[in-house]
Amino acid sequence: MKALMLGYGNVGKALNSLIRERSPKLGLDIKVEGVVTRRGIMLNQREDFHPDKEGTVLEALDLINPDLVIDVSSANYEDGEPSLSLYLESLSRGINVVTANKAPLALNFSRIMAVAEKNGAKVGFQATVMSGTPSINLLRAMRAAEVRKIRGILNGTTNYILTRMNEGLDYLSALKEAQRRGYAETDPEHDVNGFDAAAKLTILANFALKKPVTLKDVEFSGIKDVTQDKVKEAARKGKKIKLIANAGEGSLRVMTSEISPEDPLYHVDGVTNALDVHTDVQEVVIIGPGAGPLNAAFGVFSDIVLMYKGTF
Ligand SMILES: NC(=O)c1ccc[n+]([C@@H]2O[C@H](COP(=O)([O-])OP(=O)(O)OC[C@H]3O[C@@H](n4cnc5c(N)ncnc54)[C@H](OP(=O)(O)O)[C@@H]3O)[C@@H](O)[C@H]2O)c1
Repeated sequence: MKALMLGYGNVGKALNSLIRERSPKLGLDIKVEGVVTRRGIMLNQREDFHPDKEGTVLEALDLINPDLVIDVSSANYEDGEPSLSLYLESLSRGINVVTANKAPLALNFSRIMAVAEKNGAKVGFQATVMSGTPSINLLRAMRAAEVRKIRGILNGTTNYILTRMNEGLDYLSALKEAQRRGYAETDPEHDVNGFDAAAKLTILANFALKKPVTLKDVEFSGIKDVTQDKVKEAARKGKKIKLIANAGEGSLRVMTSEISPEDPLYHVDGVTNALDVHTDVQEVVIIGPGAGPLNAAFGVFSDIVLMYKGTF
């Protein structure tokens, strides 16, 4: 099986190693034939990638004619490009797509899935929500139930900051500590204002609740107005402030909320993520890491394994 990869950064490199090391044990014969970055097209030369030629990812698609397209490029929330065009073209040719990139799906979920369905192709996107912790793939396994509501802690950076604030730090000190420990980016805006969690919630709402929504339908606010006074006030009531993404029952929003110890999300601290799924028959909670290159690569690789080696 030939694969073409868009993006070759932290996740791309970890994924290429996972594919090489784990595929044989799983009976998968797959090789990344080429990767495309802003520097152009790089072809696989003895399992290494070197800048070869200028060219776009659509040119690489024609050149390699892959069986599978993998997107591990940076998110572009302006228009989802060049990933969006790559997905639409690949899927229309019946080529499966697996992605860790949230932007194209948060902006155009219905359109992408309609092209996939029309052409009998599949789209894997486990890594877009909670990375390698099977959130999307848990929902895939729960398809027999009717999902009524989903709630989640979908952003590790903000959960870490709120956890440290609960332990006494003020917002700025907690943010700086998160940056020092590599949990927050130098520009943390998309995390702390709730945007990143909103993008993930959009994907979840489309997939689990069949709501044809896009990012602009999500009401979101972040954690910037959480103060030590508010954290202490919640603690006096035995509660914690958490940034909760919530979809279902007419709601589609990301906002802070005071939650009590009976809530399964109360105990989810640090960079850990969680998803609480309510269906017509049960409530299921999954807790696990939500970021990191290896976790994200594992999410993408899990999709590939399920797609080609799924047992039923
Ligand atoms: N890291 C995580 O913990 C994590 C977790 C879950 C999901 N993800 C998602 O996974 C994706 C990759 O993350 P990462 O950490 O590997 O990022 P990264 O290290 O910054 O790598 C991004 C790659 O995308 C390429 N790229 C960016 N814009 C491009 C364009 N217009 N055309 C072609 N290539 C382009 C970059 O190429 P250049 O080198 O030429 O700039 C680079 O190779 C992102 O969408 C991210 O949100 C990451």
